[in-house]
Amino acid sequence: MTYDNPALTIVSDEVKDGSIRWRSPSNIALVKYWGKHGDQLPQNASVSFTLDGAATDTTLHYAARRSAGEGVEVELFFHGESKPDFTTRTKGFLERLLPIYPFLRQLSLRIDTTNSFPHSAGIASSASGMSALALCLVSLEERLFAPLTDRSEFNRKASYLSRLGSGSACRSVYGTAAVWGRVPDLGESSDEYAVPVGDRLHPVFQSYHDDILLISRTEKAVSSRAGHGLMEHNPYAPTRYAQANRRVVTMLDVLRTGDTERFGELVESEALTLHALMMSSHPYYTLIEPNTLHVINTLQQFRRETGHPVHFTLDAGPNVHLLYPDVVADPVKKFIREHLLHYCEDKMYLADRIGRGPEELAVNETTNA
Ligand code: PMV
Repeated sequence: MTYDNPALTIVSDEVKDGSIRWRSPSNIALVKYWGKHGDQLPQNASVSFTLDGAATDTTLHYAARRSAGEGVEVELFFHGESKPDFTTRTKGFLERLLPIYPFLRQLSLRIDTTNSFPHSAGIASSASGMSALALCLVSLEERLFAPLTDRSEFNRKASYLSRLGSGSACRSVYGTAAVWGRVPDLGESSDEYAVPVGDRLHPVFQSYHDDILLISRTEKAVSSRAGHGLMEHNPYAPTRYAQANRRVVTMLDVLRTGDTERFGELVESEALTLHALMMSSHPYYTLIEPNTLHVINTLQQFRRETGHPVHFTLDAGPNVHLLYPDVVADPVKKFIREHLLHYCEDKMYLADRIGRGPEELAVNETTNA
């Protein structure tokens, strides 16, 4: 499929200045995407929970450009400060979208963006950031041209654009849980955009918490982009891609039936497999730290003693995500405070839970360009 559309150009005199604002959450993969090909296409399917608290708030201000140039005119402000490095990355992303949105070159854009989580928390912001921007762009298309056919077409296009910015961002467009990548028996699934798990999610999972233990807030030594690249020559890659595709099918069944034990086995193995792939790349590297392992060991002991269904997962970094249903929230939070916080940098953790997905917000006049 292609969204390329040379007809999407504007008559500059007719466009009034305006702003669009979206808040979009981060997501945590349960079955991981690690390895890509072509234009940000995944080597295997993945499935994630959408978070609630960890989110990016983005306002896109637009005005007709005085003199049309070749590239896109944009400046990005992060928490009110001009950020040349973010501006360069965003400009590159928007210029890759020109075949889809040729009108972007006819506008002058200013992007104001803030994260709900501390910048130095070591939490990846590309999923929330890229999806928030993509949602603003699809809203802008609707405002300048015509509404898309329906809400699911809107989301599909926002997910497609998000993917081009950062693969995992395409899953943030939907509430609760999302699948990205072709899955047999999931007719609407695609490598080009994510689809919602929707009502195939058992109520126990709808109540899930994700407490993120901040083991280290140091910026990671190897970027996701480089990590994906190293998968091209990883000797375990073909086996891994086949395993992940099978696991997505199993995970969807687990999510539907509410089997928290099987869920735990899968997410924990996925977390360790992701890091094992990093350790078996050439050159190899490690992102987990001693305190990551201390937390995992302490958690396993807590589980043996209490039987509570609380499990860990990891992203591409040392922080540990603890996943558990609301019914055990009190004992788990007590356990975190008493036994895990001293493994966290500055004793910090972010209490999050499964969320309802992005939200379009009224534009706050004080952030106007
Ligand atoms: O979206 P990227 O290119 O930053 O890749 C992120 C991949 C993981 O977060 C490690 C796993 C995933 O599926 O989100």
